Amino acid sequence: MLIAQISDLHIKAAGRLAYGVVDTANLLQRCVTAITRLQPAPDLVLATGDLVDYGLAAEYELLKSLLAPLSMPVYLVAGNHDERRHLRAAFGGPGFEYLAATDQFIQYQVQLGALCLLVLDTVAPMEARGQLCSVRLRWLEQRLSETAMPTIIAMHHPPFVTGIAHMDAPGFEGAAEFEEIVARHAQVERIMCGHLHRSIQCRIGSSVVSVCPSTAHQVALDLRIGGPDCFVMEPPGFQLHLWTPPRLITHTCVLGDFGPHYPFRHAGVLID
Ligand SMILES: [Fe+2]
Ligand SMILES: [Fe+2]
Repeated sequence: MLIAQISDLHIKAAGRLAYGVVDTANLLQRCVTAITRLQPAPDLVLATGDLVDYGLAAEYELLKSLLAPLSMPVYLVAGNHDERRHLRAAFGGPGFEYLAATDQFIQYQVQLGALCLLVLDTVAPMEARGQLCSVRLRWLEQRLSETAMPTIIAMHHPPFVTGIAHMDAPGFEGAAEFEEIVARHAQVERIMCGHLHRSIQCRIGSSVVSVCPSTAHQVALDLRIGGPDCFVMEPPGFQLHLWTPPRLITHTCVLGDFGPHYPFRHAGVLID
């Protein structure tokens, strides 16, 4: 099982740049092309939120066309830049039936062979912070109590303080309760997040949280107290998660043209 995770696509309406600078549509197109060329092909793509920039219907329409070249199932996660109603309206058709089965929150369960995927909705509408209310936490607890199968939880906001002050400042309501639930269920193999626009890892409970870089702009790495909120055009990327029981191995992929692959050896001998 090979999972391609993309995150924080921030698609704008056609012709518009994010923050007046970032051509997010072009960058996603490059990422989608890179994924379609992968060998072996991923079994699925998981998009962990901030799919579009302002939650607009026109942005979701463009997003849908940009994702169309992906032949494998695509699972969508809502982020703080998303708008649930417009997201559902744009992706109501074939391939996205799982969205129709969700109610107030975009939370759903997918069986991936011997893996269970639980998608959580950490959105507090019109706010940057993360939120897992009692309804959403109860849903998680219920799902985890039903199976001992290795489980991946996907959600937009990372449930820990990252050290990047302006990203941490809005907070995450329910993060402590979430951690308690995860700590009680050893089958949680991984918690896959976005939102931070960087590759970050952290242990919570007995599980690992991994944060995927953005397909577009990255949040500037600044660990100073009160550091300013800035982004930087470091190389964008995505992650490949390889499930080889009993482990999930994560590779971070950088997008860009870095030339050909060079051999280490010639005629079986290490090149000097
Ligand atoms: Fe984002
Ligand atoms: Fe976000």
